[in-house]
Amino acid sequence: MRLNTSLASLGAFLLPLASAQSSGGTGGGYVSSSPGPDENGFYWIYSEGLSAAFIPYGASVAKLLIHDKYGIERDVVAGFDNATAYTLDKAHPHLGSVPGRYANRIKNSTFEIDGETFHIEPNENPTREAPDGADTLHGGPNGWDFRNFTVVSHSNDSITFSIVDPDGEQGFPGEVISYVTYTLHDFTWDFKLVAIATTKKTPIMLSSHTYWNLDGFANNETNTALNHTFYLPYSGQRVGVDDILIPTGDIIANKKGSVNDFWSAPKQIGTDLSKPEAEGNCGFNCTGYDNCWLVNRNQQGPYDWRAEGGFVARLQSEWSGIQLDVYTDQEAFQMYSCNGQNGTMPLKSSQGLFDNEDFPRTIPKYGCLVLEVEDWIDAINHPEWQRESKQIFSPGGDPYVLQASYVFSINSTDASSS
Ligand SMILES: *[C@@H]1O[C@H](CO)[C@@H](O)[C@H](O)[C@H]1NC(C)=O
Ligand SMILES: *[C@@H]1O[C@H](CO)[C@@H](O)[C@H](O)[C@H]1NC(C)=O
Ligand SMILES: *[C@@H]1O[C@H](CO)[C@@H](O)[C@H](O)[C@H]1NC(C)=O
Ligand SMILES: *[C@@H]1O[C@H](CO)[C@@H](O)[C@H](O)[C@H]1NC(C)=O
Ligand SMILES: *[C@@H]1O[C@H](CO)[C@@H](O)[C@H](O)[C@H]1NC(C)=O
Ligand SMILES: *[C@@H]1O[C@H](CO)[C@@H](O)[C@H](O)[C@H]1NC(C)=O
Ligand SMILES: *[C@@H]1O[C@H](CO)[C@@H](O)[C@H](O)[C@H]1NC(C)=O
Ligand SMILES: *[C@@H]1O[C@H](CO)[C@@H](O)[C@H](O)[C@H]1NC(C)=O
Ligand SMILES: *[C@@H]1O[C@H](CO)[C@@H](O)[C@H](O)[C@H]1NC(C)=O
Repeated sequence: MRLNTSLASLGAFLLPLASAQSSGGTGGGYVSSSPGPDENGFYWIYSEGLSAAFIPYGASVAKLLIHDKYGIERDVVAGFDNATAYTLDKAHPHLGSVPGRYANRIKNSTFEIDGETFHIEPNENPTREAPDGADTLHGGPNGWDFRNFTVVSHSNDSITFSIVDPDGEQGFPGEVISYVTYTLHDFTWDFKLVAIATTKKTPIMLSSHTYWNLDGFANNETNTALNHTFYLPYSGQRVGVDDILIPTGDIIANKKGSVNDFWSAPKQIGTDLSKPEAEGNCGFNCTGYDNCWLVNRNQQGPYDWRAEGGFVARLQSEWSGIQLDVYTDQEAFQMYSCNGQNGTMPLKSSQGLFDNEDFPRTIPKYGCLVLEVEDWIDAINHPEWQRESKQIFSPGGDPYVLQASYVFSINSTDASSS
């Protein structure tokens, strides 16, 4: 009944819910004229310039294929060769998934709403006092990306997943119903994430946690992504964090020329990593990036996040010529430079080099980059940031909505020269 009430009040985008419910969350209940998953459990969608595969586990992107400047097809996202492998992998680095119901870290696995304190399941940084963890990362030990979403619809160029997250799951208050739609068109991957609090006031913050290597992990000169060029034109500030990457509440300036300056000009990821300032930049004993930059656009006047040229992040690789421009309505952006990879995660059969002793078929430290469109991390523990309307959602109120367009292009300047 509750569901029907929210259906009636929340509008047309909830209509596929009936089919989501009846399929029981197994991922088999899609309503589509297309044939469904391939033999690896992948649901494919296509457009000019791109094809992509998705799996119900975490509503994750499993493959993203594009031709590089030489015309060679590259699979530019990390993952596994089949859907089953994702569910069996113990390391669970949130590959290509939608972390939820609250992405990134929650301090002390605790937050307060209207004077009531909620303790949720911890899952990171275990200590003697807190053996299960000192904080919660990406929604907890059974966050959304440990669960199979339901395929609600699937066509040649689009797929929609849904999940019903019950009241009390991982300690969060109230039920949340979410829809994740991925669409391809004209060298562009669009996504729209919608979530509705149906029964109680609750925090919601989602993201897309995709690991990129624009060379398809097949660069024959370097197996890292340190030569990728990165640009955050609106990000002169970032969220200050402590040794375990928990926000302190302080907003920090990324002074021009400093390690975290990607706003004043595009810069290769590796450019500043040998500077002393880079040590500890991603937490205790960690050299690299795992930071949340603010996206400051309002002061330049009203803007349309879709307007051409208004990308909030740009990633390019000169080697493949592949460029990715990220457009989004979100006001923060996380970049993680795969500091924690250590050569144990295998590449997919669609990636990497074969018979090259220098570059084994695994992902090394700094071998990839995670790009996450999101809101200000752990804002639920920083009322002084005044972001409650972006992060706390109520039954009958506005839904949580995240929109993004990932626009690809190819630098073909020297395509014919080899
Ligand atoms: C699916 O989309 C691709 C790329 O746009 C197109 O080439 C193909 O014909 C489409 N297939 C169907 C069955 O519509
Ligand atoms: C799925 O992929 C994993 C890892 O590559 C492999 O070990 C396993 O045999 C594959 N399973 C199937 C059913 O293909
Ligand atoms: C999720 O789906 C995969 C197949 O894609 C299956 O192997 C796995 O058991 C399912 N996991 C859960 C928790 O339902
Ligand atoms: C951290 O959470 C625990 C319960 O999970 C609580 O007892 C403790 O007071 C909290 N600490 C702080 C500093 O909020
Ligand atoms: C490296 O890869 C590029 C692009 O595929 C190719 O043109 C070049 O010949 C390769 N170099 C070597 C030494 O294999
Ligand atoms: C990577 O970029 C650095 C300059 O930042 C350059 O010295 C180095 O040769 C480049 N390496 C490759 C393999 O392109
Ligand atoms: C710091 O990290 C290095 C490798 O990344 C490791 O060998 C070393 O033990 C670490 N030091 C501490 C104090 O944890
Ligand atoms: C395009 O490729 C040319 C030649 O390799 C290079 O000089 C230029 O910087 C590249 N442009 C971009 C945007 O990557
Ligand atoms: C590499 O990372 C994996 C996953 O985080 C971890 O299980 C493994 O122990 C690490 N191996 C080494 C040699 O550090």
